[in-house]
Amino acid sequence: MSTPILRLEHVTKRFRGLVATNDVSFAVPEGSICSLIGPNGAGKSTIFNLVTGYLAPSEGHIFFGKTRIDGTPTTQLARAGIARCFQIAKPFADLSVRENVRIGALFGRDGARDIAAVTDDALALTGLSDLAGRPAGDMTVGYLRRLELARAIAARPVLLLADEPCAGLNATETEDIVTILRLVRDRGVSVLLVEHDMQAVMRVSDQIFVLDAGALIAAGPPEAIAGDPRVIAAYLGTEAVE
Ligand SMILES: Nc1ncnc2c1ncn2[C@@H]1O[C@H](COP(=O)(O)OP(=O)(O)OP(=O)(O)O)[C@@H](O)[C@H]1O
Ligand SMILES: [Mg+2]
Repeated sequence: MSTPILRLEHVTKRFRGLVATNDVSFAVPEGSICSLIGPNGAGKSTIFNLVTGYLAPSEGHIFFGKTRIDGTPTTQLARAGIARCFQIAKPFADLSVRENVRIGALFGRDGARDIAAVTDDALALTGLSDLAGRPAGDMTVGYLRRLELARAIAARPVLLLADEPCAGLNATETEDIVTILRLVRDRGVSVLLVEHDMQAVMRVSDQIFVLDAGALIAAGPPEAIAGDPRVIAAYLGTEAVE
C-alpha cells in the first residue's frame, strides 16, 4: 500500500484539564476525500489546528506523506502543500474576490507558478470568475464559502482541509460545494472534510472518521458508518447497544 498523504498516530491534545483530542489515529489515503464527523465539541477543528500547525499535539505524531509535521509552523506547512478553509469564513472584506484568492496563490505551495493564472484558475473552478472584481464583503454566505475554497485551491495544495464548507448553505449551494470538492479531488488533491451535513458527507466521502468527545469511535466507508450503532448513539445521545 502506498504511503497515506496524512497519518495521525495516537494524537492527544489537552487544553489544561480538557482532553480535546484523545489518542486519535487515522490515515487519509492519497487522492481520496475523507471526512471527519462528530457532534459539536468532538474535536474536529482541533484536529485541523493540529494538522495545520496552529497547535502542537500534547502526545502523538502527525505525518504528511513520510514527513513528520507535528509542531511545524503553519507557513511552512502551507509551502509544503497543506491548505485549509476555515469554519468561519474569513475574507478580507475590503479587498476584491480576486485579490482574496490571489493571497492564497501568493502564500501557497512552493515552486514556479504564474500567480495570475493560478488565481484565475481557482476562480473558474469555484464559479467565481464573474464576481472577481466585487468586494469580498458584498458576498452572500454561499459565495463566501466558495471564496474560502478558491483561496485554498489557489495555494495549489497537495492536501486540502475544509472545515464545514457547507455550513449555512441550502441544498443547491451544498451540491455546488460537493461538486467543487470532487473537481479538486479529480485533480489529484487529497481532501479532509469536516461537515455536519450528513447527506453531503455520505455522498462525497471515500472514508469517514467519527469522533466523539475527542476519541475516534468509528472509521470506514460511508455504508459501514451509516449503520454503526456507536455512531448513531453519539449523534442521538443514547447509550450504544453492543
Ligand atoms: N484553544 C482552545 N482552548 C481551550 N479549549 C479549546 C480550544 N479549542 C478547542 N477547545 C475545546 O476543545 C473541544 C473540541 O473543540 P473543537 O473546536 O475541536 O470541536 P469541533 O468538533 O470542531 O466542534 P464544532 O462541531 O462545534 O465545530 C471543545 O470542548 C472546545 O471547547
Ligand atoms: Mg469545529
